[in-house]
Amino acid sequence: MLFAMYLPTKVFQASPLLSDEDLEGLASVFAGGGVAAIPTETVYGLAADVFHEGALREVFRVKGRPADNPLIAHVGTLAHLEGLVESPSGLFIRLAERFWPGALTLVAPRSCRVPDLVSGGLATVAVRMPSHPCALQILQRSGPLAAPSANLSGRPSPTAAAHVLDDFAGAIPLIVDGGAANFGIESTVISTVGERAVLLRPGAIAREKIEAFLGMRLEDPKKGGAPLSPGMKYRHYAPKAKVLLVESRQELEALQKEGVYVPPSIGTENLYAELREADRLQKQAIAIHVDAEMLSNEALMNRLEKATS
Ligand code: TXA
Ligand code: MG
Repeated sequence: MLFAMYLPTKVFQASPLLSDEDLEGLASVFAGGGVAAIPTETVYGLAADVFHEGALREVFRVKGRPADNPLIAHVGTLAHLEGLVESPSGLFIRLAERFWPGALTLVAPRSCRVPDLVSGGLATVAVRMPSHPCALQILQRSGPLAAPSANLSGRPSPTAAAHVLDDFAGAIPLIVDGGAANFGIESTVISTVGERAVLLRPGAIAREKIEAFLGMRLEDPKKGGAPLSPGMKYRHYAPKAKVLLVESRQELEALQKEGVYVPPSIGTENLYAELREADRLQKQAIAIHVDAEMLSNEALMNRLEKATS
C-alpha cells in the first residue's frame, strides 16, 4: 500500500486472494468502463470489460497500442465463451480441456458480439482462461475481460506490480498486486481455425508439450502472407538499453568491464525483469549470455530476438 500514499494509482494487495470487498470494487470499476491491471501466471494484464467499447478504447490509448493489434479475451469459466467464440471446434475444446486454466491462448472464429477493437477487425477472437487464482477470482466476479500485457507498447512485459507502476503510475486508477508472475513470459497462442493447429506465438507452454498431446506437429504461420498474429510484426519487449546477445564468456567479461549490464543468469521467469533493470540502472546496454539450454527454448529466443531487433 506504500505507493497508494503518494500516487493516484491505487494498489490492491491480493494475499494470496482478494477480499470480497475488493472483488466487488473491481467488478464495479469494470462495469463502469474502467480499466485495471491484474496479475496472471504469465505477465500482468491491463484489463477492461470485453464488451465495453469505451473501456477498450482506453486500454489502447493508455498503452499506445496500434488499433490493428487485437486483444486476448480472458474468461473465468467455460460459460464465458458464449458471446465470444462462434461454436468452438473439436480442436478448440480438446486444447481448452487439457490446458485451461493455463498459459495457452486459443484463436477461433468470433461471435458477432465481439467488438472490433478486441478482434482488431479480424474474423477471429483470441481467448484464454488464466490459472492465477486471483485472476480467476476477478474474472468469475466481473465476467470476461480483454487484457493485453500491462506495459507501454513496445516495452518489456510486466512480471510484477512494480513494473506496471513504472509504466502506468498516474495513468490507470488501479493495480491488483498478485505477486511475481510465475512464468514471466506470455501465453502460447495457437489458432484452431479450420481444425488446424497453427503456432502463432511461442510462449509459456512449450510447443513440444502441445504437440505431444495432439499427436501431431503444430503448423507454422504462412510465410509472406499477412501476419496471422498481428502483434508479432511490431517491435516488442525492448528496453531503452541496447540488448546484446553474447555466446563467449570472455566477450561477456570484457563488456562488463566496459560498464555494460550483465545479469547473473537469464530464464523466461526473469528476462523481462532484467531488461527493465538495465533501464533502471540507466545502462546503455545489457549483455545476455546465451547458452545451449537457452538456444533450445523457443519462446525465450523469440523474445530475445525481438528485443535485439
Ligand atoms: O500471457 C498473455 O497472453 C498475456 C496475459 C495478460 O494474458 N497477454 C498478452 O497480450 O500477451 P498481448 O496483447 O500483449 O498479446 C496478444 C497477442 C498479440 O500478438 C496479438 O496480435 C495476438 O495475441 N492476437 C490477439 N487476437 C488475435 C487473433 N484474433 N488472431 C491472431 N492473433 C491474435
Ligand atoms: Mg504484449
